[in-house]
Amino acid sequence: MATIIDGKKVSIELLKELQKKTDKLQKKPSIAVILANNDDASRIYVNSKEKQANILGYKSMVYKFEKTVKQEELIELINKLNNDSNVNAILLQLPLFNHLNENELIELINPIKDVDGFHPLNTGKLYSNLNPFAVCCTPKGIIKLLDYYKIDITGKNTLVIGRSNIVGKPMAALLTNRDATVTLAHSKSENLKEITKTKDIIISATGCPKLIKKDMVKQNSVIIDVGIVKQNNGKLMGDVDFENVKDKVSYITPVPGGVGPMTIACLMENTYELFLKQN
Ligand code: GUN
Repeated sequence: MATIIDGKKVSIELLKELQKKTDKLQKKPSIAVILANNDDASRIYVNSKEKQANILGYKSMVYKFEKTVKQEELIELINKLNNDSNVNAILLQLPLFNHLNENELIELINPIKDVDGFHPLNTGKLYSNLNPFAVCCTPKGIIKLLDYYKIDITGKNTLVIGRSNIVGKPMAALLTNRDATVTLAHSKSENLKEITKTKDIIISATGCPKLIKKDMVKQNSVIIDVGIVKQNNGKLMGDVDFENVKDKVSYITPVPGGVGPMTIACLMENTYELFLKQN
């Protein structure tokens, strides 16, 4: 039976440390969140981000927009937030309404306020193994989980499934920077099972429920599940068939309670770190 990686517990420890450091500050970090979509999951994420920021004593502002919002309004808002010295972190929740140009808005965010690390300057620094102002929260949280459980990364055969800018690509970069051998697979990859079977660490971020089965994984491998899809019965389902896989591997993350809480904790840490860099 595998060790279940307890992301909730690790995130609480991280947040406790952050609370201690934040309590010592006279002025508190602040985060502005822009929500321009109708997606239920995004609303839930944004609410939890706001709740956690308030617990830490951060100032948090959420700007919610209707479907009629124009690109120009968001440009104006980001310019205003960039120029406001009371705002330390800007988060543009993705995805956006279809008519909006995501890349233009991400590039407009001042890189030192880019709490997600999505700006090309920050991704460029990440891919060059230089110091970004902030590193994308989910991949950063996953590295913290691996380190917490003392899971070796150096030289390991690792597989990231999913090539999104939010998880897959930055995850592959972080693993490469930590001297892993990295394969990046995605929806067009042929013979996925042949790829998964030889890997020491698999990080799956596809959003395809129960994609990863027992016969696809190597004995004693480490399985990190980033997928989270709400089923019709309201149950949250990951990319990994947890019950089927858990007896074959050495470590596995549950859904929920694995990667999710780490994303929020890392967002809070990024906000704090941006605040320090600006002050
Ligand atoms: N949508 C899904 N995950 C994320 C995230 O980590 N940051 C932002 N900005 N949008 C997301």
